[in-house]
Amino acid sequence: MNGDVLVIIPTYNERPSLPPIVQRVRAATPDAHILIVDDNSPDGTGDLADSLAAEDDHIEVLHRTAKNGLGAAYLAGFRWGMSRGFDVLVEMDADGSHRPEHLPAMLDALRCADAVIGSRWVPGGGVVNWPRHRQWLSQGGNRYTQLMLGLGVHDATAGYRAYRRSALERMDLSTVSSQGYCFQVDLTRRAAAAGLRIVEVPITFVEREQGDSKMSGAIVAEALWRVTQWGVTSRARHLAQRGCR
Ligand code: GDD
Ligand code: MN
Repeated sequence: MNGDVLVIIPTYNERPSLPPIVQRVRAATPDAHILIVDDNSPDGTGDLADSLAAEDDHIEVLHRTAKNGLGAAYLAGFRWGMSRGFDVLVEMDADGSHRPEHLPAMLDALRCADAVIGSRWVPGGGVVNWPRHRQWLSQGGNRYTQLMLGLGVHDATAGYRAYRRSALERMDLSTVSSQGYCFQVDLTRRAAAAGLRIVEVPITFVEREQGDSKMSGAIVAEALWRVTQWGVTSRARHLAQRGCR
């Protein structure tokens, strides 16, 4: 994939994970730039990010004032990267679950796509050390998403992605209000509605070894509520259109 690549890494209390993930991204994709988006982590992740950025001109930090959710952090990261002319914007977790070593294959797939999803639920993909309840949640969430939205994507909740800037420009990000992890489903449905080419590349998602997941009951509830609402709205629209013919 030609063009400047920005890897956006949102962080909240990820001090132990940050140096190794940054080092692995730099090794796997030496030309790519990294933007760490920290929500004023109490453990000092933001200060650590600043010290990593001071030593490397391919690393930048966006400091935000409060923990406002993964969706808001990515939207701020996209705006930062798009206003600076990056052609490709990558989403990657800080905790090592998204192996930077998969990124070259994902960027390669982006040559013939508008958006690439690092997918756990296609042949060749999978999860390592993920608790059984998270596997159920992910597979059940994807089944429900397919039932409600029919996107034809096997891993619509996945958080490891590469977007062309031109794709994000067609997705009307100004109207995104998803805060938690349903942000990923929201962007998938917007990409599909815009007629963009979405390609899934198999990845192995490795459960974090340090720190804690920020997944919560509120994040699951938001996802369930929004996916249901999107599904009902799009069905009502279809029915209304049929009625007009
Ligand atoms: N800045 C910021 N603000 N970062 C956040 C926030 C927030 O409010 N919440 C989470 N993060 C960061 C974490 O620090 C980490 O780098 C990344 O977002 C993912 O958070 P985890 O808490 O580790 O997510 P997970 O492992 O439970 O879930 C992963 O898989 C889901 C699908 O199964 C993520 O990739 C999700 O995006 C994905 O939907
Ligand atoms: Mn994680």
